Amino acid sequence: MLNSKNYLALGLMSGTSADGIDLAILITDGRSKIKLGPSDYHPFSKSFKNRIKSVFKEEVNIKNLKKKKRIVEIENEFTHLNFLAINKFLKKNKIKKDKIDVIGFHGQTISHNPSKGYSWQIGNSKKLANLLNINVVSNFRNNDIINGGQGAPLTPIFHYYLTKKIKKKVCFINLGGISNITYFDHKSKTNLNNILAFDAGPCCSLIDDWVTQNSNKKFDNFGLLARKGNVKDKIVKDFLKKPFFTKLPPKSLDRSSFSIKKLRKLKIKDGAATLNYFVADTLLIAINYLPNIPDVCILSGGGRHNKFLVELINKKIEKSKILLSENYNWNGDSIEAYAFAYLSVRKLLNLPITFSKTTGVKTPLTGGQIFTFI
Ligand SMILES: Nc1ncnc2c1ncn2[C@@H]1O[C@H](COP(=O)(O)OP(=O)(O)O)[C@@H](O)[C@H]1O
Ligand SMILES: [Mg+2]
Repeated sequence: MLNSKNYLALGLMSGTSADGIDLAILITDGRSKIKLGPSDYHPFSKSFKNRIKSVFKEEVNIKNLKKKKRIVEIENEFTHLNFLAINKFLKKNKIKKDKIDVIGFHGQTISHNPSKGYSWQIGNSKKLANLLNINVVSNFRNNDIINGGQGAPLTPIFHYYLTKKIKKKVCFINLGGISNITYFDHKSKTNLNNILAFDAGPCCSLIDDWVTQNSNKKFDNFGLLARKGNVKDKIVKDFLKKPFFTKLPPKSLDRSSFSIKKLRKLKIKDGAATLNYFVADTLLIAINYLPNIPDVCILSGGGRHNKFLVELINKKIEKSKILLSENYNWNGDSIEAYAFAYLSVRKLLNLPITFSKTTGVKTPLTGGQIFTFI
């Protein structure tokens, strides 16, 4: 494997928080060679974010919806925003388009419902490939779902290789719109089939919904509001009664499965505090599903900026060392974008991206569809 080809891949991630597009350049052989290049963030405007959020649904009829004018318009705008973001990013970093071998394009999830056989991301990959003259890989979840998997989470294989040199029991916790955790033991001779991963619960998406509904803020900056509030234990207990939390992994979650209706009589700060305690509890529940106590939990994703939440996580998950991805010099806002760059290269090489303990599939599976530019 010494002389395996290195690819220069660009990853594009827009998660369930619907906050914007993360972009990252990765140099990789699709296996253990990983070199993180520059990364950036392109936020959505408030109005575009609202337009996207207005079409989120727990269950949809994709065939019907795909034809709807409003969806087509949102999809075209989203694709165009990705195009603009890439151009700006490449210019800023003085990277020539023809140096990029492939783009890993996650797309914006509208509805994730593996039990109904789909996970739907919008984003026109063919158009993006043709606009840029670069091949695009997208539709990463489909193959997994049609083979009985959850279609999520997809980033564990990247977490695994990224942390390969940390000879510890590692738990990667991504605090995005939904939180997901990945666990492996780099101390023992593991193989990819031992990577354990699943969604832990709602995270930034729910906190953002509450804060935007009750103020003109996009999110609770550093968790300052939540810090001032009082937790309503009964509501936390109520949230935790959802069958999702007693379900054994692998499992995944749609951002529309939880609602903030329960909080409606609360002051904004108390609602924020309550949601933060709830999120911290869901993470502890998730950790308790792991076969061993992790030596270290590495936090990534936008939720790690919420200092109040990070403090709660430190208190709840007291037996493990809690570190931010920055402790390892990885920009925690870009991990997912790097991951989709990585997954696109694995698709080119026909290497598996999902495993029995990450999505529940019977055998390791490749994922993604290649859109070649013409
Ligand atoms: N300074 C901050 N303070 C608190 N929360 C933040 C901050 N910056 C970002 N976030 C949270 O992170 C979210 C975005 O995280 P991200 O990892 O991009 O999630 P997703 O993958 O779902 O898009 C924002 O919507 C917000 O909730
Ligand atoms: Mg995001």
